Amino acid sequence: MKTIIAPSVLAADFANLQRDVELINESKADWFHIDIMDGMFVPNISFGLPVCAAIKKHAKKPMDVHLMIEQPDRYLEAFKKAGADMISVHAEACPHLHRTIQNIKELGLKAGVALNPHTSLDCLEFLINDIDYVCIMSVNPGFGGQKFIPSTYDKVRKLKSMIDAANADVLIQIDGGVDSGNAEKLAEAGATVLVAGSYVFGAEDPKAAIEKIKF
Ligand code: DX5
Ligand code: ZN
Repeated sequence: MKTIIAPSVLAADFANLQRDVELINESKADWFHIDIMDGMFVPNISFGLPVCAAIKKHAKKPMDVHLMIEQPDRYLEAFKKAGADMISVHAEACPHLHRTIQNIKELGLKAGVALNPHTSLDCLEFLINDIDYVCIMSVNPGFGGQKFIPSTYDKVRKLKSMIDAANADVLIQIDGGVDSGNAEKLAEAGATVLVAGSYVFGAEDPKAAIEKIKF
């Protein structure tokens, strides 16, 4: 299977959002990646429910909502209503991560766990068979356009072994600083979903840029 590409709408032109959503519809990308930041869990505020719902009106591909917010349980249902097909929550923001994952699945959505760069994979040991994807942050969350952290490769390989050993069906998503300089190496290490924001929307030809990172 080829790598799933999920362009991050955070890097789109918000004044031309419909145009940029349609560009992704017409491209070889597979999902929309929607970054929700609350100014508390991360030091930045992105956009919220109405923008998510507006994207959904035009999006012809699944919407992957990455919640970088405190106490995400409060908003799971609202993001489902705003069009989420899958939701990832941060392990660091969820003291009852297993329960939060069950809550996402009970809504009929795919469930993911996102991990900050310094967060160990250990917290997944007793959860690996309950989740659909792991979002490995390859930058510190909060901003687009940051530099890729190279220790990510090792983390991907370790996660892949963990998934294989558990015989689990879990996608490995990489988020932050993904571009044509690291995509192939990430896919070789075991990544199955690549999120890319500034690389895609900053490219002269975003559709060609997407094809270039699909391995
Ligand atoms: C970072 C976000 C990422 C970000 C990716 O907090 O979770 O999804 O938008 O953007 P780039 O690809 O520009 O690093
Ligand atoms: Zn993200």
